[in-house]
Amino acid sequence: MKKLTVITGSPRKSGNSNALADALIQEAEKAGAEVKRFDACKLNMIGCRACGGCYKKGHACAFEHGFDDVADSILASDVIVFTMPVYWFSVPGQIKSIIDHFYAFMIGGKDVKGKHCVVIATSGQPNESGVSKGITDAMKGSAEFLGWTYEEHFFGGMNVPGAIRDTEAIAQIQELGRALAK
Ligand SMILES: Cc1cc2nc3c(=O)[nH]c(=O)nc-3n(C[C@H](O)[C@H](O)[C@H](O)COP(=O)(O)O)c2cc1C
Repeated sequence: MKKLTVITGSPRKSGNSNALADALIQEAEKAGAEVKRFDACKLNMIGCRACGGCYKKGHACAFEHGFDDVADSILASDVIVFTMPVYWFSVPGQIKSIIDHFYAFMIGGKDVKGKHCVVIATSGQPNESGVSKGITDAMKGSAEFLGWTYEEHFFGGMNVPGAIRDTEAIAQIQELGRALAK
């Protein structure tokens, strides 16, 4: 059975990237995957303090215990999925604060290699504008640094919250959910 960790990055419950997260999770679970979902906005994390206390007392972060469950789930997962909107040409702060805490895997000597990273992102500007670059640079760079394979699905031109529900993106991500469960 495949284990998936899904980390969402939008504060809009009925927004575009959460619609894609919902579609992916529903299909992956139907296809037999075990999925753990973390909504970054509910964790109220701030950035890494670089204190180096990671895993010194057993848990991943010396401060942000919201990250501890995320870290445990990532360590146990085959696939790590991030869904997010583009904020200011880049990764939204909610996701960035989680990724900054991946420092704990290095300091704690955790072997996270060999996982598959999937990024699903939406933006207001169209794909052709090159708006995905900030996401790709940050997420692909981080994933490959950790020894993860990388896959990205980007949907530009999604200015209206929930507009993506009327597009073929939902079916595409449903199919992805089924494929990731295999
Ligand atoms: C704070 C903020 C910053 C944004 N920055 C950008 C941006 O730099 N480029 C862009 O194309 N869209 C930008 N957008 C639009 C969102 O990326 C777009 O509406 C996305 O589909 C929202 O996804 P969601 O409904 O999952 O939150 C921004 C929206 C917000 C709220």
